[in-house]
Amino acid sequence: MKIGFIGAGPGAQTIAKHALAVGHQVLLSNSREPESLAPLVAELGPGAAAGTAKEAAQQDLVVLATKWWNVQAALFSLGDWRGRILVDTTNRIASVDPMKLGDISGRTSSEIVADLAPGARVVKAFNTVPMSWISDFSASKRKTAFFVSGDDEDAKKVVSDFIEEIGFYSLDLGSLAVGGRLQQTGGPLIGVDLTFNDRFVLPTID
Ligand SMILES: NC(=O)c1ccc[n+]([C@@H]2O[C@H](COP(=O)([O-])OP(=O)(O)OC[C@H]3O[C@@H](n4cnc5c(N)ncnc54)[C@H](OP(=O)(O)O)[C@@H]3O)[C@@H](O)[C@H]2O)c1
Repeated sequence: MKIGFIGAGPGAQTIAKHALAVGHQVLLSNSREPESLAPLVAELGPGAAAGTAKEAAQQDLVVLATKWWNVQAALFSLGDWRGRILVDTTNRIASVDPMKLGDISGRTSSEIVADLAPGARVVKAFNTVPMSWISDFSASKRKTAFFVSGDDEDAKKVVSDFIEEIGFYSLDLGSLAVGGRLQQTGGPLIGVDLTFNDRFVLPTID
């Protein structure tokens, strides 16, 4: 796959490195000219490229990795997503000092993201753990579990398969309204460190 990133900070970079390690291509973008990402692209090596947010949004899989207060500006003007998958990694932190959560008026933050990205199949993932917990890119890394929530089963499967392909576990929590609430900032699963060793096989629950 070619994976587009809207945002190029630690969140995007960490996921991009895991994707590159298994042979995917990545296209990163930020709020500036793609040239500003040349040093990062050089550091990431073959398979990495920089582009505009609009170009990132055209890729097979798109990862949203901006601060919450930049989400609206980042998604504004990207047009209709025509069913492309948008992985929402954001946490609704409105300010850091003092720590304040963004007002989402009783909805979930990923439902707000979905409103801002018409036509996108939004899947919430990767938001619950600090990237420092998954910064081992070796084959012997700890297998962290990531929660996934979304309203489109096929899109969730694509994201879950990607999570497992890059060496982690994926746990489906249901819809953006239900699972998204559990895994978003302010919910019970934020910062939960679930790791399994290689011999553990997750049971399937029908
Ligand atoms: N870092 C973590 O450990 C972690 C873990 C889980 C979840 N998260 C969540 O993931 C998100 C990203 O975190 P981060 O630490 O990577 O943030 P960050 O270091 O602030 O990086 C944000 C990136 O977004 C870009 N950006 C800002 N406005 C944009 C726009 N309008 N269009 C395109 N790109 C834009 C920034 O580019 P410029 O440099 O040009 O401004 C920057 O590259 C946050 O919502 C955070 O809560 C982070």
